[in-house]
Amino acid sequence: MSAATPRIVYLNGDYLPEAEARVSIFDRGFLMADGVYEVTSVLGGKLLDFAGHFVRLNRSLSELDMPPLSMTEAELLAIHRALVEKNAITDGMVYLQVTRGNPGDRSFEFPDPATPLTVVLFTQSKPGLADNPQARTGLRVISIPDIRWHRRDIKTVQLLYPSMGKMMAKKAGVDDAWFVEDGFVTEGTSNNAYIVKNGKIITRHLTNDILHGITRAAVLRFAREAQMEVEERAFTLDEAKAADEAFITSASAFVLPVVEIDGVAIGAGEPGRVVPRLREIYLEESRKSAV
Ligand code: PDD
Repeated sequence: MSAATPRIVYLNGDYLPEAEARVSIFDRGFLMADGVYEVTSVLGGKLLDFAGHFVRLNRSLSELDMPPLSMTEAELLAIHRALVEKNAITDGMVYLQVTRGNPGDRSFEFPDPATPLTVVLFTQSKPGLADNPQARTGLRVISIPDIRWHRRDIKTVQLLYPSMGKMMAKKAGVDDAWFVEDGFVTEGTSNNAYIVKNGKIITRHLTNDILHGITRAAVLRFAREAQMEVEERAFTLDEAKAADEAFITSASAFVLPVVEIDGVAIGAGEPGRVVPRLREIYLEESRKSAV
């Protein structure tokens, strides 16, 4: 953003130019990574899958014994919409983060539940978000061990290892990394992972081992509605390398083909037939239901 048009962000009830939004150094998010987040995509000025993100946010808060948000779904939606409007976002994302707030000092113990949560939202403008050239070329990924904690179903801001994973991928000259645990793929650094074999879409079942992707839920629903076969189970790295197609999903990437894993070409080494179709269906249906 240029200095002439500072980005307007939301902090605890106020809309402020980004430079004026300040959070305490004692905030639990800063000191303890004690916070959760959501990323909601914006296409054509409208929010995709907002209801799903709201449900998951509340679940993340409750799993961490954080007090519930003091606002309704309609109120949170109004804040998202206000930020989209104030920052003239056509395509992009709204990032939301809620932390356990500022207890006034550093302590491992959770503060008094009456401590107000810190609620921050900001927008990221990404013109042409849905026209990502990677949809045509596909992504190349490496596999790395999944050494994250075992509550990956909670969308916390502890993103150090995923960041390191992205850097390992960059160093290896590829686009991203897939996490592997006991020989099985869990998910991507910031996305859910899938393979396609003999027309069947295979993706890991929902447990605490992976984030329950909002895009995943929508894509699987659309796939089933389009009479595609879906199997929710863990798949091995070897199975992935021998798959016909592979892909990832996330709120910001939607559906993107994966054409290479650890230097091994997947299928013909270029996007196949199933994944581009899924991307098309997802974008079409999500735009229709955007709010
Ligand atoms: N990442 N798995 C992980 C580890 C993720 O971080 C994400 C999302 C997903 C996909 O979830 P969803 O479809 O609800 O976006 C799966 C977001 C986009 C991010 O960190 O930017």
